[in-house]
Amino acid sequence: MNLHFHNFQPESEDLHASVVQGLMRTPKQLHPKLFYDEIGSQIFERICEQPEYYLPEVERGIFETHAREMIACLGENCHIIEPGAGSSKKIRFLLDRIRPSLYAPMDISAEHLLTSAQKLARDYPVLPIHAICVDHTKPYRLPAEIPGHNRVFFYPGSSLGNFDPVDAIHFLRDIRGKAGEDGGLMIGIDTKKPPEILNRAYNDAAGATAAFNLNLLQRIKSELDADVDVESFYHHAFYNERLGRIEMHLYSRCKQKIRVNGSAFQIEAGESIHTENSYKYTVEEFQALAREAGWKSDRVWLDDKQYFSVHFLRSC
Ligand code: TRP
Repeated sequence: MNLHFHNFQPESEDLHASVVQGLMRTPKQLHPKLFYDEIGSQIFERICEQPEYYLPEVERGIFETHAREMIACLGENCHIIEPGAGSSKKIRFLLDRIRPSLYAPMDISAEHLLTSAQKLARDYPVLPIHAICVDHTKPYRLPAEIPGHNRVFFYPGSSLGNFDPVDAIHFLRDIRGKAGEDGGLMIGIDTKKPPEILNRAYNDAAGATAAFNLNLLQRIKSELDADVDVESFYHHAFYNERLGRIEMHLYSRCKQKIRVNGSAFQIEAGESIHTENSYKYTVEEFQALAREAGWKSDRVWLDDKQYFSVHFLRSC
């Protein structure tokens, strides 16, 4: 096996500070990176199997249809770096077709990352894998073992949509710096579409997205020993057309207090905690954003319905 593990996992103090800061704000919010503990990462995989949640299937279809062109963009000896790799399932499609010189999955959830990287290492024994446990929304350095040339970042699943546009530019600029002069970025972006379709996708009938959202409170309860009645909250997501984003909220059914380590936060009946956004971009909107961050558009592929886009960008 050719697997290396680099651990820059954030301390749990970060969790406490982030929760308290978020609950002090008006409207209340909790940072979406708190979603991805081991349980959250597993529930997320269930979301990706829900029929309403069209993103993974449509994205996969685009990859299948345009595989040859995409592979040509990546080149043979590239070093693939994947922020927020999670279960590293999507990269397999590429690994079955090309031989990169190295694959570096990054994820905030150490356990999940390690299990997935081990599975991958068993299935692709000659591929050098560098698993990096890191919060990629904070400043970090890539380990020196990752060669500086032929770097391609792989960022599927429209994860960029979970940043606000300004933070998305910062993130894209950061990976542009890390990718270097000959770098590339293969990125999946969910497009703007009728609100009914979006609303259905983020309120799946089986309740996977609800479970994912509520797990955030469960996590605060178990890891921070917070006093919070998880059952008295419910999940609801809606498309905010003006801002071009899905908003994910946890609504309180009653007036209550959440207590975290000596701090108490009053929450009214019907008040929400805003937990995540998922911005949607037209092809032109995304290309403009990428340009501001130092990337130029090389290719873009969409499905027939134009529900999803995959872009290949190069450093400029
Ligand atoms: N980035 C994807 C999206 O915005 C996946 C995702 C992140 C997601 N957090 C989520 C999906 C919460 C559902 C619920 O769609």
